[in-house]
Amino acid sequence: MSDRATAVAHPNIALVKYWGKRDDELIIPRTDSLSMTLDIFPTVTTVTRDPAARADTVVLNGAAAPDDMARRVSRFLDLVRGLAGGGGHAYVDTRNTVPTGAGLASSASGMAALAVAAARAYGLDLDERALSRLARRGSGSASRSIFGRFAVWHAGDGSDAGSYAEPVPGVTLDPALVVAMVDTGVKAVSSREAMRRTVATSPLYDAWVQSSAADLAEMQVALARGDLAAVGEIAERNALGMHATMLAARPAVRYISAGSLALLDRVAQLRQDGTPAYATMDAGPNVKVLCDPADAEGVAGVLRAAAPGIRVAIAHCGPGARLVNEDAS
Ligand code: DP6
Repeated sequence: MSDRATAVAHPNIALVKYWGKRDDELIIPRTDSLSMTLDIFPTVTTVTRDPAARADTVVLNGAAAPDDMARRVSRFLDLVRGLAGGGGHAYVDTRNTVPTGAGLASSASGMAALAVAAARAYGLDLDERALSRLARRGSGSASRSIFGRFAVWHAGDGSDAGSYAEPVPGVTLDPALVVAMVDTGVKAVSSREAMRRTVATSPLYDAWVQSSAADLAEMQVALARGDLAAVGEIAERNALGMHATMLAARPAVRYISAGSLALLDRVAQLRQDGTPAYATMDAGPNVKVLCDPADAEGVAGVLRAAAPGIRVAIAHCGPGARLVNEDAS
């Protein structure tokens, strides 16, 4: 058995969001969600088992990982060791090209890459569904980054076996997603805590759960039709609904900043001027804009002009997580 494996995974951006858990321990969501995997900002992770080591070591971008991340990785490896019946500690080297913890889905790519690399390094033979379930235990959204293009993550029946992501079949749409990095600092409230607080205290949460089911059904129809305008409209209203439910939490969770609002205004203006462009936002102030690839450079230029100095990147549909090499040392 090879004791080392390297995997690459890309972030995904939900067009119908996951916001709220039914089971905090197993990371089973309250709602189904649907996402697009990107072709930018990959995470590359190498897991090397070292049975002689007395603890796991986690390195992020060449330096010791922050304690909370190292603990999370180690807890994840405990799960893998549980499935593998042991295998000892590991050295985990992870390289993120996306700013970590800034609402740019670094946990999705990070945990998907870790799941694929660790499963191989510990000798588990898992199919994609099982990898998706495993990645889910690290971070819910990571379940979707196992797959390329568009993936739907099922809440299922509340059991570990019933909650996994899978590809959305038959989608030919190939939109661009323009990512405007309003602020790449680490967020004040983690999405995990924000989600918990929203479920526990927001009077709007039940309405969000109901509207989300309708959004998912309509999104699947719009994707099958290849209707970018409908996909964009549903994605934008779903994201704003998610932010509304967290704004109503007590105390409020507010990721939308003045800089975000300025860009949301700009996207609305673009539409009025005839460019189909639709905004979505996650657990941070950054704004992602879904549009036709032919319009992507123009949209990026408009966003840069609206917020001089910010970084703007253009993404398209990207691949699922995969092993990139094996070392039998
Ligand atoms: C706003 O997957 O990071 O990006 O399961 O607690 O690790 P945990 O949360 P995480 O939350 C992502 C929330 C979101 C929406 C989404 O990706 O669907």
